[in-house]
Formats: sequence, structure tokens, C-alpha cells
Amino acid sequence: MNTMNSSITSEASPQDEATVPVPESKPTDTVIEEGKTVGKPYSDDAKFKLRDVEVFYGESRAIKKISLDIARNEVIAFIGPSGCGKSTFLRCLNRMNDSIDICRVKGSLQLDDQDIYDSKRDVVELRARVGMVFQKPNPFPKSIYDNVAYGPRIHGLANRKSDLDEIVENSLRKAGLWEEVKDRLDATATGMSGGQQQRLCIARAIAVSPEVVLMDEPCSALDPIATAKVEELIAELSESYTIVIVTHSMQQAARVSHRTAYFHLGHLVEVNETNKVFTSPEHELTESYITGRFG
Ligand SMILES: Nc1ncnc2c1ncn2[C@@H]1O[C@H](COP(=O)(O)OP(=O)(O)OP(=O)(O)O)[C@@H](O)[C@H]1O
Ligand SMILES: [Mg+2]
Repeated sequence: MNTMNSSITSEASPQDEATVPVPESKPTDTVIEEGKTVGKPYSDDAKFKLRDVEVFYGESRAIKKISLDIARNEVIAFIGPSGCGKSTFLRCLNRMNDSIDICRVKGSLQLDDQDIYDSKRDVVELRARVGMVFQKPNPFPKSIYDNVAYGPRIHGLANRKSDLDEIVENSLRKAGLWEEVKDRLDATATGMSGGQQQRLCIARAIAVSPEVVLMDEPCSALDPIATAKVEELIAELSESYTIVIVTHSMQQAARVSHRTAYFHLGHLVEVNETNKVFTSPEHELTESYITGRFG
């Protein structure tokens, strides 16, 4: 993946990610046909099958008939201007939108061919299978150990203390944090650096052995070194998990993802191999976005 993407990063990322302001969604003259996504939105090995998904906040429609497959063990990046619906769509995948009163989701959303929005579905179990890492690291005000042990405890994944210790150690190892914290597992998590806190949140998410990890701008509060660590981690995790990452950094999308999905004003405009999106996008709106032009 790294070799494939190295050319992308040098040739097709004209902007310095540290200085690029996030473009706002603007009205555009380009007509977007509802539900018509160009590129390759479907997969033969779909983990998620999402069809004609619409999301409303009250009367306002934030997601407009999006259809997409997310393949098993792929890393897919969601990119697009601020307010285009990336987080809203991401939150449908583990029903995080349920907590927003005015939010309604329509369409067909399946995980392993089972309806995510089935009224009989156990949402706690769903969120254990589809974990989430947020923009700002949000460790619980507990010890490092207890943060990682939290999920396994509520899901009854360990009967003995030694089993729990093993899960905690393995999760911290996978998150690349074990060596840094193994001698202070009882220390409060909120005393760690931002980058460590974010890797702790990733360890907490993977401690319950999820199948999918959703990440909403996981590096936006991190410095470049911590960002590089999280990106390395994403590459390693992709061997075992399906990962959906929202990012404002096109370089990050290029570095970590296999496919990239470009959102615009609630539409899914284009989905293609990341390489293709950044070197020869099919849709003019995608091209405008990746080259920093709009209108
Ligand atoms: N809780 C909410 N209540 C009402 N409207 C909302 C809510 N959350 C999002 N929206 C609206 O839905 C649209 C999509 O927002 P969303 O946060 O999904 O965009 P985004 O692409 O993630 O943006 P950003 O890049 O800034 O995070 C926006 O118009 C936003 O104002
Ligand atoms: Mg967002």
C-alpha cells in the first residue's frame, strides 16, 4: 500500500496539509444526479451493504440516497468539504445517530447481510462489532488499564483477572502503546499526551475484538509524529479489521486507504481506488476538491 501511495503523496497532493483551510460546502453549478455515484461503489465481498440511505435532521436532508458497499478488511476514506455529511453517514454504520433525537435514517443498511436498523437488534452488541474512535481523544477519567478493560468487562469477555490482563496487554500492543505505558497501567489516562490518549482510545475500541473500526478525523487533534503513529497503526489494523476513516487530509487518505469516497452536499459523488481518485478522478467535483478548486 505504501509503495502504491508514495507517488500519490508527492505528485497529486498540491497542498500542504498543515496550512490548508477546510473548504466549506458551496452551492455549485455542477448538477449532481441523486443516487448516481461514479466509479466503483460496490464490492463482491461486502461487509456493509448500504442502499438508498437518506438521513434527515428534522426536515433537513443531510444524506441524499447514498448507495455504497464497504468491503471486508478494506480501509475506505471518506473525504469532502465541511458539512457534506461524512460524519452523519459514518454514524449510521453503528447507529450512533440514534442518540440524536431529530435524526432519522431511511434506506437499507446491512452488516453481513443483517439489517443494522432492525428494531430487534441489540445496539450494544452492534457497537462492540462496529467500534468507533472520535476526533478528540476521549479517554474515561480512569486508569489506563481500566479504560482498555472497560469494554471486555461490560461484555463479559474475560472470566478471570489473568484473561483480562491478557486482553489489556494485547490491545495496548496492537495500538502501539504497550512499551510506553506498561509500567504505569494504574496512572490516570487523562494525564497522557494527546497522541497517547488517541492510541489508548484505539486500544479501547479494539479490546472488544470488533470487526469494524470507524474513525472520525482521528488525527485532527494530533501533531505530525502522533499522526504518523496512528497512520502506521491503521495499516497494521487493516489486516484484521474493516476500517472507515473520515479525514480532511488528502495526504492521509492517500497514505492509509485502499478506496476513497468523495462526498459533496449530502451526495456520494465518486468512489474509486484511492490511487485513481487522486491521480485521475472521474467526476469534475472530485477533481475540483482534490486540486483545491471549487465552483
Ligand atoms: N446533530 C445535528 N443536528 C442538526 N443538524 C446536523 C447535526 N449534525 C450534523 N448536522 C447537519 O448535517 C449536515 C452534515 O453534517 P456532518 O457533521 O455530517 O458533516 P461533515 O462532512 O462531517 O462535516 P465536517 O467535515 O465539518 O465534520 C450539515 O448540514 C450539518 O449542519
Ligand atoms: Mg464531521
